[in-house]
Amino acid sequence: MRSHHCGQVDRSLIGKEITVAGWVHRRRDHGGVIFVDLRDGETLLQVVFDPEDAEIFAEAERIRGEFVLTVTGQLRGRPEGTVNPEMLTGEVELLAKQLTVLNQSKTPPFHHDEHASEELRLRYRYLDLRRLKMQKNLRLRHKVTSTLRGLLNEMGFLEIETPILSKTTPEGARDYLVPSRTHLGKFYALPQSPQLMKQLLMMSGFDRYYQIVRCFRDEDLRADRQPEFTQLDIETAFLDQEAIMGQMESLIRGIFQKVLGVDLPDPFLRLTYAEAMERFGMDHPDLRNPLELVEVADLFQGVEFKVFAGPASDVESRVAALKVPGGGVLTRKEIDEYTAFVSGYGARGLAYIKVGDRGAGAAGLQSPILKFLPDDAVESVLERLGAENGDLIFFGADKASVVNDALGALRDKLGRDRGLLEDEWRILWIVDFPVFAADGKGGWTSEHHPFTAPQVDSPEVLLANPGEAMARSYDMVLNGTELGGGSIRIHSREMQSAIFEILGIDSEEAETKFGFLLTAMDYGAPPHGGIAFGLDRLVMQMANTENIREVIAFPKTQMATDLLTGAPTEASTKQLREAGIRLRSTSS
Ligand code: AMO
Ligand code: AMP
Repeated sequence: MRSHHCGQVDRSLIGKEITVAGWVHRRRDHGGVIFVDLRDGETLLQVVFDPEDAEIFAEAERIRGEFVLTVTGQLRGRPEGTVNPEMLTGEVELLAKQLTVLNQSKTPPFHHDEHASEELRLRYRYLDLRRLKMQKNLRLRHKVTSTLRGLLNEMGFLEIETPILSKTTPEGARDYLVPSRTHLGKFYALPQSPQLMKQLLMMSGFDRYYQIVRCFRDEDLRADRQPEFTQLDIETAFLDQEAIMGQMESLIRGIFQKVLGVDLPDPFLRLTYAEAMERFGMDHPDLRNPLELVEVADLFQGVEFKVFAGPASDVESRVAALKVPGGGVLTRKEIDEYTAFVSGYGARGLAYIKVGDRGAGAAGLQSPILKFLPDDAVESVLERLGAENGDLIFFGADKASVVNDALGALRDKLGRDRGLLEDEWRILWIVDFPVFAADGKGGWTSEHHPFTAPQVDSPEVLLANPGEAMARSYDMVLNGTELGGGSIRIHSREMQSAIFEILGIDSEEAETKFGFLLTAMDYGAPPHGGIAFGLDRLVMQMANTENIREVIAFPKTQMATDLLTGAPTEASTKQLREAGIRLRSTSS
């Protein structure tokens, strides 16, 4: 139906007859001449209807926004002064000779250029996806996936699909269950990731696997989470941690180079988990932000101010300071707002010192806590932080987890509020995670997942001191987002059993849940390890959006509903009967 896409139309076609097809983006009547911006996919082309051609002009008068057309005409350069440098095709226009209206459209519920509510956009997603911005995002996503496939194929990886109707995988979220009709009372679980299957593929002799795969997690949603999302899932055998990290760096460098023309550093920076927590309060720090937490517990031991003295001499607590250069301008009201903000993370207060005149000793400072603190401790803090006139220092004193959560979040917020973020790509690895995290009930949970190999090789050593064990795991963090995480896996049944024991999974439960994997370990499982990247998150970053729904064609809302189709919906009585399910009335 068309001879050219709008995006292919440029000066070289001037004087030629061409046919284009697409939607009416905008129609303007200009003193008897009708202009239509025709849109196909990525681009607009200006079409001109001249009143001299009465028949076609009359037809053009009837067309409205989102009508579907083909137009044949002669391409011409735009007259002097009407060139539009904002438009890809802004130097030319099509003088219409023939017009076919392929379909009409009702007046759309929102116009392309308007700021429509997200609810409306999701309900009429097909209209929303016609917007050039969304076209651009999804085309970028396609470019990312096709380039990733190309790079991985060159690196000798095989794309292998794994089941969607599957068994529970322990990634820490709730499962989506699918009832079995043929086995009444039994359920498939949709995979939270292909973790166990990819390990089995290594045991099956495919030593380089990847898959661009949907994962399903019934968890609380946030701006960068969806109940179904896509991973670039990768597994390798016979490679050690260094080699895997090296290959993954090359892959991510390759994708940034090929898709955005951006050169990421070689090698990527590495931080240990402990260092990241100490300096940034989190394991996914945004290094575009220059602010850092500084430990000051040693300076406040035994001081009169109990708020600091208590945590300062408790091993599970910390006292940390965060210097905000130029933060002296913050008003009392702003400081109160930051105090309310950190209280959302469990902090019981937000002490601060404003540095007015560094040379004037205590008289040059302004703070509600000065009267409780010895001058030399305050001086040492200022010294350690390199405080200068006009700076403000915030303090957090509490259990280390509370201080890290509160000041880590405050650091992010200050970075944004005060425009401190560098316009750079800051990528890094976090390594040396603990294997286990205390579950708060006297037991342990996996920091990554229960198949992650510890850095110790002996199950006895691990059992003797689980809290001390470090994992052979690694997370990749880009501009404050966890882009991917992976690990070397356990390939010996003894070590796997020790991990289950520490997690409180008894051998019967382990056998029921993961027996197939444990059995496979008995038949010559090779050393293996891998990683999974959040593909949606990668594309989000590349598209420079903070909303994951902007890079997914048909996403779900924060309430996990699909506003376009209305899913989830009720099942018919027949379907429920076939699945052997009787619903309790919702009131009971
Ligand atoms: P993990 O659970 O860390 O690891 O997931 C890997 C990456 O997937 C992305 N991600 C998400 N993206 C959008 N919405 C979600 N709900 C969501 N959950 C996770 C993140 C994350 O870094 N099997 C292991 C990987 C491995 O060990 O190889 C796993 O799934 O970017
Ligand atoms: P108070 O003695 O409770 O009035 O607190 C004095 C100052 O210390 C106030 O500025 C509080 O915001 C701050 N503060 C109280 N508890 C903490 C805490 N756990 N960490 C940091 N600052 C705190």
